[in-house]
Amino acid sequence: MESIKVGLLGLGVVGGGTWKVLARNAREIARRAGRNIEVTRVAVRDVAKARKLLGPDVAVGADPFEVVRDPSIDIVVELIGGDTVARELVLEAIAQGKHVVTANKALLAKHGSEIFAAASARGVMVAFEAAVAGGIPIIKAIREGLTANRIEWVAGIINGTTNFILSEMRSRGLPFATVLAEAQALGYAEADPTFDIEGIDAAHKLTLLASLAFGIPVQFDRAYIEGISSLAAEDIKLAERLGYRIKLLGITKRRPEGIELRVHPALVPTRSLLANVEGAMNAVLVRGDAVGQTLYYGKGAGEEPTASSVVADLVDVTRLLTADPENRVPHLAFQPDAMDDTPILSIDDVRTSYYLRFSVADQPGVLADIARVLANGGISIGSMIQQPSESADTAELIFLTHEAVERNVNEAIAKIEALPFVRSSVTRIRMESLA
Ligand code: NDP
Ligand code: HSE
Repeated sequence: MESIKVGLLGLGVVGGGTWKVLARNAREIARRAGRNIEVTRVAVRDVAKARKLLGPDVAVGADPFEVVRDPSIDIVVELIGGDTVARELVLEAIAQGKHVVTANKALLAKHGSEIFAAASARGVMVAFEAAVAGGIPIIKAIREGLTANRIEWVAGIINGTTNFILSEMRSRGLPFATVLAEAQALGYAEADPTFDIEGIDAAHKLTLLASLAFGIPVQFDRAYIEGISSLAAEDIKLAERLGYRIKLLGITKRRPEGIELRVHPALVPTRSLLANVEGAMNAVLVRGDAVGQTLYYGKGAGEEPTASSVVADLVDVTRLLTADPENRVPHLAFQPDAMDDTPILSIDDVRTSYYLRFSVADQPGVLADIARVLANGGISIGSMIQQPSESADTAELIFLTHEAVERNVNEAIAKIEALPFVRSSVTRIRMESLA
């Protein structure tokens, strides 16, 4: 049987890994796919560098559009990244009637609706397992394994770079910049590491997970995003003392009024599964009404873990080539004409618990006044500690609240900060029990 011809766009961390895994496991992969999967053309910027890895038998060039328009190519694998050239390439590949495999979450989170619509109209597949949580087959799990369920929420650590940074800062007491440089050297970080640190990469992935879980359009612009750059080392330590760890979480939750879609640092109980996901590892918890909670854990970035998902998509596409387009698994898990328009909730309407830390003058009546502000906002105090601060007449207060509406918490914070005896701004970090 003739082999499947693949055009590979990009031969960096993920492209290089994909080439290596396909070459090393060629026989095993062919036994699974039913056909040989052969990379016949590659496009990169630095052709000489690529030639060293590929050897003489593969055509290498600097124009990825030539690959996309080559009639002999069956599947285009886009591993260039970004949402400009990559968007044009993917749309052109679809227009040429080629199936696409991509790891590009930025592209799909922003242009997914356009790309999936174009692919459905042309009857081709766009597979993107590597775009969310690297080597973890979370898309397959949600799209196929959990189809019986009404999914209630998905919560995960879906950015390896920030989890690596938070873990190393906590366990080795290393400064932020040192750990970021290590993550970059290990190939975890995005081309622009602010995407990692500011939560944007996690929000790209979460946007895709929300669509798969709830059958809603891809709406990256509606996601609430807060990164780790303004986290204080003091809060990481205090959280530890209180029995929590701070993780950058992506959370999407179905509520009666709409869907929560948010990425931000959160205190999670130290005994919880997610709190113990360390280093560059990723983990995603999914709660379905029938199955309960399921956990998916593994390497969320890096050369071969990510290639593992790219190659799995290549095998899937190869197996499904001869199936009628209507009989294939829908791109976003739900049939395109059965998508929902449930609104994404504003962050003001989110309900969760909160950690609040601030300094006050250590004098009578302070706690009573603060408790009154919280009570008036309908915010119930779960626990409170007072600790001495550097100056003798100042105390530091830490409140852990029960679940409350974010709008009320923000209004209470503004009132607290305006009280005459309050001596600092209020540090507010959300808390998730993940129960
Ligand atoms: P790299 O920067 O390591 O590789 C990018 C590749 O694309 C390079 O080979 C580069 O060529 C090539 N390239 C860039 N622009 C062009 C162009 N205009 N024409 C032709 N080739 C071009 O990126 P990664 O491999 O890390 O990431 C690729 C994708 O995978 C991104 O979408 C990323 O978000 C995603 N991803 C990455 C993960 C990771 O662990 N790194 C994990 C999961 C997803 P040259 O080398 O010659 O410059
Ligand atoms: N920069 C990403 C991360 C790569 O750190 O998780 C995988 O998407």
